[in-house]
Amino acid sequence: SCDDTGIAILENNKKIKILSDFLSSQNDIHASYGGIHPSLAKREHAKNVFPLFLASLKKTKLLKKGKTEFKKETDEILERYPELLKDLKEFFSNYEKPDIDQIAVTIGPGLEPCLYVGINLAKALALNWGIPLISVNHIEAHILVNLINSYKKEAFPALALVLSGGNTKMFLMQNIGIYKELGATRDDAIGECFDKTARLLGLPYPGGPEISKRAGKVKKSRFKLPRPMMHSNDYDFSFSGLKTAVFYEIKDRKLNENEINEMSFEIEEAVIDVVVKKTEKAILEFNPNSIFIGGGVSSNKKLQKELKKLTKRYNIDLHIPKYTTDNAIMIGVAAILSPKIKNYDKIEANSNLNLND
Ligand code: KG4
Repeated sequence: SCDDTGIAILENNKKIKILSDFLSSQNDIHASYGGIHPSLAKREHAKNVFPLFLASLKKTKLLKKGKTEFKKETDEILERYPELLKDLKEFFSNYEKPDIDQIAVTIGPGLEPCLYVGINLAKALALNWGIPLISVNHIEAHILVNLINSYKKEAFPALALVLSGGNTKMFLMQNIGIYKELGATRDDAIGECFDKTARLLGLPYPGGPEISKRAGKVKKSRFKLPRPMMHSNDYDFSFSGLKTAVFYEIKDRKLNENEINEMSFEIEEAVIDVVVKKTEKAILEFNPNSIFIGGGVSSNKKLQKELKKLTKRYNIDLHIPKYTTDNAIMIGVAAILSPKIKNYDKIEANSNLNLND
């Protein structure tokens, strides 16, 4: 959906088993832009997706030499990706249909040109192999991957926090598929805040892990940043003010290494304070039985520690997924737990897809 290309193969036989999982991240490519460059991202997806697909199948030993009859509509589906079309034609002429029952693909939210690379490959496979295609909301996948082989109805109602480079959202979840959005960011996403402030400090992309690493080198900070909307009477977030505050703190001087560490410490603290406070507000209002987190920022160790403390205090289960950053396993898990089957010619990308769409 953005800058990660992933293919995973899952088996669902009473338990979900991960047969293969391949991922290619574009961090190095986008590093010099300090964020995602959409057309470069699309090009990289188109280049990487077929090798990942082939590697994934080879790992599962599902491939059998033979032939798959090539459906001519595939030419149109993949007309914008000539290399991918060529690779796929060759693949169909060398291998028969593997024992795969369904294809799942994310249709949004995200960057449309990127989403379409996955969608069009998935369409071509579903058509040529004659199997159903399942559309997955990438945000729902971040939440549902928490439930891999551990679904319990007692977990609900649950609060779900999706904290990533493109999204900052809080949901109340009555069960799989029943979501109410409580709040979202009004400007920058939480991961974007880490990425942009890191860039101001001269730290590489992605900024979250860098800020966190720098913050871990000190125990306190001489800097004081705002906690935007921490006490607002809703569940919305705002992070652009934090970025602006960092900008004004450093605009007339160059920070030394220790000051960069201390500024990183304060950025991380400010962001975590806001998330924890809003989560506590939602706990008090909705009395959830569990909290699910997901998205790249949820891999932040200090955030996890603070959320653990909070949930322990209120006797709530905190689920921290093994797969926090973007990955294909979560797409497969969401397709198994919350399947939305689509006809291959009806599937479209939706950059602003909502959880209840
Ligand atoms: O979910 P994700 O992999 O994909 C996108 O949304 O694109 O999240 C990536 C985001 C980036 O903004 C990155 O800086 C942030 O997650 N991130 C972190 C950490 N690891 C990744 N932010 C804070 N602390 C981390 N440890």
